Amino acid sequence: MTSKPLFRVLQPAAGTDAEAETVIQIWFNDQSFSVPGGRSVAAALLAAGVRRFRATPVSGAPRAPYCMMGACFECLVEIDGMPSRQSCMVTVQDGMRIHSQEGARDLPPLSDLDPSQASTENAHGR
Ligand code: FES
Repeated sequence: MTSKPLFRVLQPAAGTDAEAETVIQIWFNDQSFSVPGGRSVAAALLAAGVRRFRATPVSGAPRAPYCMMGACFECLVEIDGMPSRQSCMVTVQDGMRIHSQEGARDLPPLSDLDPSQASTENAHGR
């Protein structure tokens, strides 16, 4: 198996808007990165050298973006406290706090549910 990245950053053509893009600061797993703005979170993290975005719920195998168009869900991360965000579909913003998603995300506790919908079922519907 290769560990060579499947993506590489293309250099903007001289005189284009991309050449003048701003650099913003984000955090991934509490590590600071300076990345170009105006692209997806996945593209920004890949350009910063991040190669592991999440771990699978069953085996814990590492995963990273694959399709970059919202189809494969391999790019799931937690963004500003919200789990299971498709990083390829979210535009990176200055100050974003991103964490890798380890296994399955938790369901909300029953205490967070609307009391009018409370029943004897737990949050898993059992
Ligand atoms: S990389 Fe496939 S859904 Fe994000």
